[in-house]
Amino acid sequence: MTGVLQEIRAAVEQDPSRALEESVRVLKARVPHYTWVGIYLIEGDELVLGPFLGKPSPHTRIPLGRGICGAAATEKATIVVDDVNADPRYLACSIETKSEIVVPIMAAENTEDTDSMLGGTVLGEIDIDSDQHAAFGEKDRQLLEAVAILLAPLVSGRMSPTSQTTDRSNSRV
Ligand code: SME
Repeated sequence: MTGVLQEIRAAVEQDPSRALEESVRVLKARVPHYTWVGIYLIEGDELVLGPFLGKPSPHTRIPLGRGICGAAATEKATIVVDDVNADPRYLACSIETKSEIVVPIMAAENTEDTDSMLGGTVLGEIDIDSDQHAAFGEKDRQLLEAVAILLAPLVSGRMSPTSQTTDRSNSRV
């Protein structure tokens, strides 16, 4: 797993403008039990699907209160679900999916301690589905939380500092 993080770090350093796409690509390619890998970004009160690999999802926009994705954003915490079919919050993406992990990408606000980001703003999240039951353990959590920390400043740079939305209407060219 540390090799995967190093590979993502190298790809991000090489081309920060493609950080999200490269992170998704490396995670999907290098970890066999990651069946669907995607990144959602916050726009207003919705999570909007960005880069992903796997079958197209019907859930391209998820209100913050809905789904496991919405719950992770609201709780500002990683959520691991061993059996998605037993979780009433679950929004189905594929009938093959058995388990899911959602890791918030948090802006570290008012603190330099990246291990303690509970007070921060949610910028987006990494969402991974597996066709295996209970596929996600502590190593997955550690890897994906490290990737989220790596991506946070890059995601933050894409967003409006006030609304945390990708508002192109106000951009000045
Ligand atoms: N299962 C997610 C929805 C996104 S799909 O997995 C791609 C959820 O319950 O929020």
